[in-house]
Amino acid sequence: MSDASNVNASMSGGATAVMAAAAPVLDLRGIGKQFGAIRALHGVDLSIRPGEVVGLMGDNGAGKSTLVRIIAGNFPPSQGTIHFDGREVHFHRPMDSRSVGIEVVYQDLALANNLTAAANVFLGRELRRNFGPLKLLDHKGMEARALELFRELRSETRPHDLVKDMSGGQRQAVAIARTRLSNAKLVMMDEPTAAISVRQVEQVLSLIHRLKEQGIAVILISHRMPDIFAVCDRVVVMRRGEKKADKPVAETSPEEVTALITGAKEAA
Ligand SMILES: Nc1ncnc2c1ncn2[C@@H]1O[C@H](COP(=O)(O)OP(=O)(O)OP(=O)(O)O)[C@@H](O)[C@H]1O
Ligand SMILES: [Mg+2]
Repeated sequence: MSDASNVNASMSGGATAVMAAAAPVLDLRGIGKQFGAIRALHGVDLSIRPGEVVGLMGDNGAGKSTLVRIIAGNFPPSQGTIHFDGREVHFHRPMDSRSVGIEVVYQDLALANNLTAAANVFLGRELRRNFGPLKLLDHKGMEARALELFRELRSETRPHDLVKDMSGGQRQAVAIARTRLSNAKLVMMDEPTAAISVRQVEQVLSLIHRLKEQGIAVILISHRMPDIFAVCDRVVVMRRGEKKADKPVAETSPEEVTALITGAKEAA
């Protein structure tokens, strides 16, 4: 077990002082990304510790999703280094980042609509049981474990419900349950609350609290200022591919963050 995961385990009591001293789970240095002539990211440094929730804000095209896709292994950075759990990593595909404990919840969620909630939770990681020489899918086992995960997340989602009949908030619970199953150390959410109801937003925010309590680091991309101020420890503002601010939410205000996003204020 690495140092960082030891800290993770010892944090379940919620010791904030320990968190402040913990080594970063993710450390980005000088990340840049060009798409042909477009400079999507330039010189981005970002560090996040176990149990920290970091809000990533910025106008359309600021580079937020590009940064998340680099951390998730969708494509490599053009410049810079990524350290995860204290080691330099080079991801060539999303499976590489998942295998070290990084999970992404995308806005469109990429769930399989015609499968049940439980089947989606276990997609690609199905439980199997022995049946003579055969290995069969263990539907009962998966439903039971999915139910446990939904309960743990205080979601009313039922394992046998089809995803196509679910609300946005329930889909979020399924996506987040998947991240719990994988023992993620970092969960990134790209605009999880953009298209869901007020009540469901509350559910997603409380799910984020739950991840934090378990020592999991969270990067939350959102355009919704109240969400950021409700759940984040820090807010990072991007503008035109550069990081312009990185502050504890307690030391800033929605007004200042708005000014940083638009460029009315250059940096903080
Ligand atoms: N695959 C790609 N090919 C070419 N250009 C891209 C690609 N992905 C992103 N870009 C460009 O990189 C810049 C940053 O885009 P990105 O999607 O990261 O912004 P964002 O901050 O997530 O914006 P939004 O809030 O609208 O989601 C934009 O100028 C975008 O057009
Ligand atoms: Mg985006």
